[in-house]
Amino acid sequence: MLLNRSGKTARDLLRGKTLINLFFEDSTRTRTSFELAGKRLGADVINMSVATSSVNKGETLLDTAATLNAMQCDLLVARHDQSGAPSLLAQKVDAAVINAGDGMHEHPTQALLDALTIRRRKGRLEGLEVAICGDIGHSRVARSNIHLLTAMGSRVRVVGPPTLLPQGVEELGVAVFHDMRAGLAGVDIVMMLRLQRERMAGGQVPSVREFFRFYGLDEEKLSYARPDALVMHPGPMNRGVEIESRVADDPERSLIREQVEMGVAVRMAVLDTLARGPRRNA
Ligand code: NCD
Repeated sequence: MLLNRSGKTARDLLRGKTLINLFFEDSTRTRTSFELAGKRLGADVINMSVATSSVNKGETLLDTAATLNAMQCDLLVARHDQSGAPSLLAQKVDAAVINAGDGMHEHPTQALLDALTIRRRKGRLEGLEVAICGDIGHSRVARSNIHLLTAMGSRVRVVGPPTLLPQGVEELGVAVFHDMRAGLAGVDIVMMLRLQRERMAGGQVPSVREFFRFYGLDEEKLSYARPDALVMHPGPMNRGVEIESRVADDPERSLIREQVEMGVAVRMAVLDTLARGPRRNA
């Protein structure tokens, strides 16, 4: 954290190490934040954006892995639209592999940065009531947060229409709500998620206006949460769809900017940890 805020760049912890950002999917903040984190620790950072369009994904991934291996990189940050792709890469390359989001599966560093942001503000994770709201079914952010926050002793609720909740989600140890006001009643943290229409087969949401009316976070719905409840969103936000600007931009309630800042700090810590010692993949 101190290193992240110190304003001094290019510390020596990763001097001489090479970090490759391998993104098969679009990303703004995650890629930039891994890049900044690597540079702030003195690593050589290379960004590779790979278009997935017409190529056979399995083949490309393994070909790419062989190429990267030959380049002798130390840290590989991978995002892919297929669940399990970073894990497959980890078996094929010598570098430490960090999952920067795989399909609808997991986004571990997002959960770490969210947990850090919450703990800094609330002083704890244990015993907090956290509502994760909206498109849970397509969200790797939701899945990683459910695992991490429940492991840390938070009580997690998921709130959304039945069409956007994965079947059997209660087996992950969360309470399920279909009504926003009931779902937000008494919570400490409201985590909103983007409607991930690029992952929808169609028909899961009637219309954006309808979705906002029932599930969009506005001041009226937020008033059901605790008076000191804080609002989060991993970005990118769709204003007027899952969250209104008045709430997203309220400095008293919104942690959205702080999440971005903590993202760099958490990724610095993850890169440093994985660059030390024996190869470990995250
Ligand atoms: C998320 C992602 O890509 O999984 N964004 C992020 O990493 N900050 C969420 C999303 O795309 O809605």
